[in-house]
Amino acid sequence: MNKPTDVMSTVTDATPIKVPTLPDAQTVLSVKHWTDRLFSFRVTRPQTLRFRSGEFVMIGLMGDPDPKTGKQKPLLRAYSIASPSWDEELEFYSIKVPDGPLTSRLQHIQPGEQIILRPKPVGTLVHDALLPGKRIWFFATGTGFAPFASLLREPQTYEDYDEVIITHTCREAGELDYGREVIESLKTDELLNEVIGDGFWKKIKYYPTTTREQSPKMGRITDLMKSGECFSDLDVPVLRPETDRAMICGNLAFNLELKDMLESYGLEEGANSKPAHYVVEKAFLD
Ligand code: A2P
Repeated sequence: MNKPTDVMSTVTDATPIKVPTLPDAQTVLSVKHWTDRLFSFRVTRPQTLRFRSGEFVMIGLMGDPDPKTGKQKPLLRAYSIASPSWDEELEFYSIKVPDGPLTSRLQHIQPGEQIILRPKPVGTLVHDALLPGKRIWFFATGTGFAPFASLLREPQTYEDYDEVIITHTCREAGELDYGREVIESLKTDELLNEVIGDGFWKKIKYYPTTTREQSPKMGRITDLMKSGECFSDLDVPVLRPETDRAMICGNLAFNLELKDMLESYGLEEGANSKPAHYVVEKAFLD
């Protein structure tokens, strides 16, 4: 029961249909906090927004008023869309940086509130940037899992490849939960099992690792590849340009190290304009 004066309850209980008051406003539909550092949220999708699974858009909030002019400017950052291209809503997965200009505020959003979304999707982590292959590797650290949450729910991933390997390295075990839940949900997703084929998810090999907290598999993915442990665990050969394709999304040091390793295996970087063997993108950090 809400007291008439209970403003918070009134806001939280509001139905998520509001008249947009911000430019490019979208309404928050749900928010889930995974750890004290990570959260995901879903927002309405503009009817005109078309994107390819794996792409990102600029999203944000209005900044504080300028002390002199009182004018407010949008505070925007690049966020990978974590939902697939066919989904009616948009999902995002974000870190919470205590002093981050955007995420320190964004982490407090509630259903019914609005965010700004610039409807101009771009990005390199798209199937169009890769040549045909047998096996695709998705390499993620931290919130770099987001574009793969989209691509793992994209039918083309399973139409194009016989095997889909997703590696996710995080500091702590709880940081793997979002990714694990996305992958688990594929098994019971009636629509995807019908569209792609029953048991399509059996093509996935999931390889979660942690570096600063105990979990069944410890270590940076790069080290586990160098030692060969990753390949023997997964029962697959080392990547080869003839068979393997890869997408990388994580922090900058990880991206650079893995890029060098893939090059040493003979893989070449691709782009929308010139498809090749692998593509790379930096995960959002605020
Ligand atoms: P580590 O704990 O050894 O630094 P972050 O939260 O800093 O973005 O890191 C996410 C994960 O990525 C952590 O598990 C971190 O391991 C790992 N990582 C950071 N740099 C690299 C790198 N150059 N190669 C592989 N993994 C890395």
